[in-house]
Amino acid sequence: MKQKTLLLIKPNSTNLNKIGAILQIVEKNGFVIEDLKMFRMNCDLADAFYVEHLGKGFYNELSEFMRSGKIVGAVLSREDAVLKLRELVGNTDSTIAALGTIRSMYGISKGENAVHASDSIESAEREIALIFK
Ligand code: RTP
Ligand code: MG
Repeated sequence: MKQKTLLLIKPNSTNLNKIGAILQIVEKNGFVIEDLKMFRMNCDLADAFYVEHLGKGFYNELSEFMRSGKIVGAVLSREDAVLKLRELVGNTDSTIAALGTIRSMYGISKGENAVHASDSIESAEREIALIFK
């Protein structure tokens, strides 16, 4: 089934001028870029976006990182987009992400892991509405 999902190119990637490289990888893997936006997160947007992680031990570090620079949001579509993008992105921890995944190429740690990808159809709908409202 054709689906939409949300990719965020995180501040460690935009700081290293990897926006084009990452968008090229997703296009080469059959995703169509339906919408695209560059923005910055403030505390309120980080809290809303990562509401499931609010209060966890790593939350403050996560919020600070996501507020540290430019972010590119991309709405992507293809067959099974949610699962296919999660596969292409790789493990949350960049140091153990499989070879060839975006996090293995551009992530440096579990926190600074280059990109975000929605984890379900419901998350994708919620996150796209939040970022592209
Ligand atoms: P994402 O939401 O960014 O696509 O990543 P994910 O589903 O693979 O990971 P998730 O569990 O949703 O965590 C969200 C983001 O929080 C940071 N994190 N840091 N230091 C830590 O233990 C830790 N755990 C998670 C990562 O930046 C992760 O992408
Ligand atoms: Mg997640």
